[in-house]
Amino acid sequence: MNPTETADVPGTILVDDIGTLITNDPALGRGPLGEIPHAALVLEEGRVAWAGPRAQAPAADARVDAAGRCVVPGFVDSHSHIVFAGDRSREFAARMSGTPYTAGGIRTTVAATRQASDADLLATARNLTREARAQGTTTLEVKSGYGLTVEDEVRVLSIAGRVTDEVTFMGAHLVPPEYDGDPEAYIDLVTGPMVQACAPLARWVDVFCERGAFDEQASRRILAAGVEHGLLPRVHGNQLGEGPGVQLAVEVGAASVDHCTYLSDGDVDALAQAARRPEPTVATLLPGVDFSTRQPYPDARRLVDAGATVALASDCNPGSCFTSSLAFCIAIAVRDMGLTPDEAVWAATAGGARALRRDDVGHLAPGARADLTLLEAPNHLYLAYRPGVPQVAAVWKDGELVT
Ligand code: NIG
Ligand code: FE
Repeated sequence: MNPTETADVPGTILVDDIGTLITNDPALGRGPLGEIPHAALVLEEGRVAWAGPRAQAPAADARVDAAGRCVVPGFVDSHSHIVFAGDRSREFAARMSGTPYTAGGIRTTVAATRQASDADLLATARNLTREARAQGTTTLEVKSGYGLTVEDEVRVLSIAGRVTDEVTFMGAHLVPPEYDGDPEAYIDLVTGPMVQACAPLARWVDVFCERGAFDEQASRRILAAGVEHGLLPRVHGNQLGEGPGVQLAVEVGAASVDHCTYLSDGDVDALAQAARRPEPTVATLLPGVDFSTRQPYPDARRLVDAGATVALASDCNPGSCFTSSLAFCIAIAVRDMGLTPDEAVWAATAGGARALRRDDVGHLAPGARADLTLLEAPNHLYLAYRPGVPQVAAVWKDGELVT
C-alpha cells in the first residue's frame, strides 16, 4: 500500500520495510538514537504500539511500504512566533549588506499585527503550521509577543491555541512605543492585568532577557508573575551578547533558555549542571537566527561536551529568522556548530521534546505518539548531507497521515 492510501484505515497499521528507523530509545537499537536497520513500526490509535526489526513484526490490519527508506520521529520545534502580520524582507536584505540586527524591528511587526484582522492572523498561522508539517515538524510551540496590549496579546494567544497545544505568553517581548517614556509601567501591565488575562490561554511564560529589552530584575519579575498564574517559565537569552539570561533561566528552573549565541564559561557550567536535574533546563539553539542576523553560530560542541542538553528549533518569525525548516537548522548545526549528524537529529526531536517537558513526542518507543516522518532517503544522515533538498515523503501525526 502507498502511504497516501492509509488516511482512513482503522485498526493497526504496519509501517514495513523501513531502511533505518530512528527511535531515540537506546534500549531499542544502536546508540543514543536507538537506530534499527531493516525495521518496522506498528501504529494503533494514534500511538506507537510496536517498534523493532521487521523480521519480528506482528501482524496488522493495514500495511505501508517504506521501501527501504528512513523513518525519524516528527521534529519537535520548541520555539516559533508564527502569529504576526507584515513583511520585513527589506530589513533582512539590509542586514545582509551590513546593517546589524537590533531586535528593534519587532516594533514594525507589532504595528502590523495590531492592525490585522483575526482571520488574517489565523490564516498566516495555519499556513506556516502546514508549511512546517510538510517539512516534518509534528509539534510546534507558538509564542505571542507581537500584540503587546492586553487585548492584542489575548487575540494572538487565542489564535495560537487554534494551531497548537504548546502556547507561550510573551508579552515581555519588547516595551512597545507607547511606553517609551515609562517602561516600568509596561512591566506593571505585563505582570498585572496582562498575565492575568493571558495565563488561561497559555502553558508557558517567556521573556526576552537582553540589553535593550528586559533586564535581569524585570525578567525575574515577569517570570515570577507567570509562575504565580500557573505558567511554566522559558527564557530568550544571550542572543545579542553575553548577559544574565542563561543564569536566570537555570535559577528559576526554566524548561529552556533559547538562543545561547554568546555564552561565558559560567553559563556553560550552569547549563551542564542544570542538565543533571530531574527537570533540566535545556539549551535551545536557533541556527536560523544566527544565519539570518549574521551573528556567529553558537558552539554546540562545547555545550554537548560539557554535558548540557541541547535542542534545535527554528524560531520562525518575520524578523530574525523566517524559516520553518528544521532540516535547514540540522544542516547548519552539523556544518557550523560542531554537532554530529546523529546529535543534530536528536536535538531536533528528543531535544525539542525535553525543551517542552514532553515525554510523549520526540521518540518512537511503544506508547509514544505516532508522530513520524518518512524520509526520501535511506538514513537520517541525509538530512544534513543533502541540505536544501526536500526529503519528506510522508508525515503522520497522532497516527494520521497529514502530509
Ligand atoms: O527570537 N529575540 C527576540 N525575539 C525574536 C525576534 C523577533 C523579531 O525580530 O521580530 C527572536 O529572535
Ligand atoms: Fe524567539
